[in-house]
Amino acid sequence: MDKRKRIVAGNWKMNKTPAEASAFIKALKPMIKFSRTEVVCAVPFVAIQTAVTASRGSRIKIAAQNMYFEEKGAYTGEVSGPMLRDLGVKYVIVGHSERREYFGETDEIVNKKVHAVYKYDMRPIVCVGETLAQRDAGLTAEHIRYQVKAALVGLTAEQVKKLVIAYEPIWAIGTGRTATAEQAEEVCRIIRMTVKELYGKRISSVVRIQYGGSVKAENAAELFGMDDIDGGLVGGASLKLDEFAAITSC
Ligand code: PGA
Repeated sequence: MDKRKRIVAGNWKMNKTPAEASAFIKALKPMIKFSRTEVVCAVPFVAIQTAVTASRGSRIKIAAQNMYFEEKGAYTGEVSGPMLRDLGVKYVIVGHSERREYFGETDEIVNKKVHAVYKYDMRPIVCVGETLAQRDAGLTAEHIRYQVKAALVGLTAEQVKKLVIAYEPIWAIGTGRTATAEQAEEVCRIIRMTVKELYGKRISSVVRIQYGGSVKAENAAELFGMDDIDGGLVGGASLKLDEFAAITSC
């Protein structure tokens, strides 16, 4: 039986000022009152403080979109785990494909960041996904299994239980081209089976797996209804109040 709590996270990327974030979250609060889904907003670093304040008295959790793995020191421009935890951050997105592509994040860096997120008592949302070329070459399963294993190196079973993995096919991000529910389920199943191989059935059955890539109110219910899909990581549609609220209540 599926006892996993659904989790919908908005990935705002580089959008919204602190003032806009505060207004958005205040307006979202009453709209998600009756949702049974865990609702998360991953806001830009500079908006975290106002977002956390605005979210008080609601079930909305605030996430960061990235984090450096070192605790402190001479790392100009970086933000550490203790800094985020101190602000009230609950989740950190790690290894989003945009970070891997534009900021050179390797699987090794992703793994270090995952460890650091746990070290500072937050939970990672680890992103994996294949390019269109990999899909067309029939390499999706192999690539996803590799990315999942690389991200999880050295984690304990207790840590993995708290993990959220987001399957985001790169060809579906921001393109309006959503994976079909069957395509998404097929890969989310592969992810769960990979976790099962590493940590056993009990752990793999509690890990939550999101789908991401052009999720909208119109396709969310079908995607989230699949056996191995426990919610979504939503980019563009998470910036629109009505649309995001609708997705959280799918
Ligand atoms: P999208 O982005 O919903 O705009 O496709 C998803 C993501 O990158 O997390």
